[in-house]
Amino acid sequence: MLKPITFPLSLLFVFFFYPAAAASYNVASYGAKANGKTDSSGAFLKAWAMACGSVGPAEIYVPPGRYLLNQAVRFGGKCNNSRTMIRIDGTLLAPSDYRVLGSSERWITFQGVNGVFIYGGTLDGQGSSLWSCKAAGKSCPVGARSLSFVNSRNIVISGLSSINSQLFHITIGGCHNVHVRGVTITAPGDSPNTDGIHVESSSRVAIVSSSMRTGDDCISIGPATRNVWIENIACGPGHGISIGSLGWSLNEAGVQNVTVKTVTFTGTQNGLRIKTWGRPSKGFVKGVLYQNAIMKNVENPIIIDQNYCPHNKDCPGQASGVKISNVRYKHIQGTSATQVAVKFDCSTKNPCTGITLEDVKLSYNENQKAQSSCANVGGTASGLVQPSSCL
Ligand SMILES: *[C@@H]1O[C@H](CO)[C@@H](O)[C@H](O)[C@H]1NC(C)=O
Ligand SMILES: *[C@@H]1O[C@H](CO)[C@@H](O)[C@H](O)[C@H]1NC(C)=O
Repeated sequence: MLKPITFPLSLLFVFFFYPAAAASYNVASYGAKANGKTDSSGAFLKAWAMACGSVGPAEIYVPPGRYLLNQAVRFGGKCNNSRTMIRIDGTLLAPSDYRVLGSSERWITFQGVNGVFIYGGTLDGQGSSLWSCKAAGKSCPVGARSLSFVNSRNIVISGLSSINSQLFHITIGGCHNVHVRGVTITAPGDSPNTDGIHVESSSRVAIVSSSMRTGDDCISIGPATRNVWIENIACGPGHGISIGSLGWSLNEAGVQNVTVKTVTFTGTQNGLRIKTWGRPSKGFVKGVLYQNAIMKNVENPIIIDQNYCPHNKDCPGQASGVKISNVRYKHIQGTSATQVAVKFDCSTKNPCTGITLEDVKLSYNENQKAQSSCANVGGTASGLVQPSSCL
């Protein structure tokens, strides 16, 4: 018997019916210039105000071309509608002189919004002048994140490219229900603090089918975050996918229920990393599943580091208070660029518990034997585990 084909109605609604029904606001109609030179931020803000005031679903359209947004731009306010699609065919340019954003910390921010869908587009953070300033050891501002969602919910970011951010490319903080899909992030491997996507104080965040080549973490997960799903990611160059740094503060909410699935790391500093400060904290990490990862020439493919204390400042001799439990590594394979491919360096005060390795096969370079290293860690290994487990 033939089964009737059922379509996911919600998807049809979003992708087919919704744009036609929505009121559309073209940034060009509000004075945006596609010449890459005229500051178009006022036009973008006007289009946002129109969409925000629209009673039904709204669309903001950015035609092809290069649009300079020469200041920190914040989209927010109490909107009448809870469905705004921002369809971008063009490139948004940050000020090329880092002094313009100075210490504003954020370039494009969505704050307190509900139901924002970003489709397509390129963000060019033009970060190179700031990186040179930092490399020269001059006194420079910390830089601005390219795209931030703050205290928002029901967000979709799909098909966006972000290049050369001054600082982090995308940050998600204080948000609920965020779906990131088909995003491409690119910055040089030696660019400082150009993390791909940073998530903290958020719940129900999915990051799927995306690639990150950056100078820092491809994805990082900060305190007070739960129910994160990361799948089908290409990472490298970069510092890998990190939970952390955690445990800087004493009263810190933990990280819970994180899945990282089907990830390829290429030439990264770390693969799957959990990192906590060596300081007292009430933080925790519990319920992490790492499944199906391929490591290609990764310095630290599997690592828990609870003794993070850069420059031995503010923490020497202290133990991390962060409790790490219930972390599974399942079907992880490939090559380590250093001999120690599996490293669990847990807290002397709060040993890691419930760490499991299942079908892990890592070699040092192509065919040398790798090693594992354990400190203050409890757990089990099953299936084929190479290097042999020290749990
Ligand atoms: C929302 O709609 C009402 C009624 O149409 C209007 O008076 C108000 O200005 C709108 N809000 C915004 C933020 O535009
Ligand atoms: C864990 O997170 C996933 C989403 O990533 C969610 O579907 C699942 O229900 C969560 N599990 C629990 C026990 O909350």
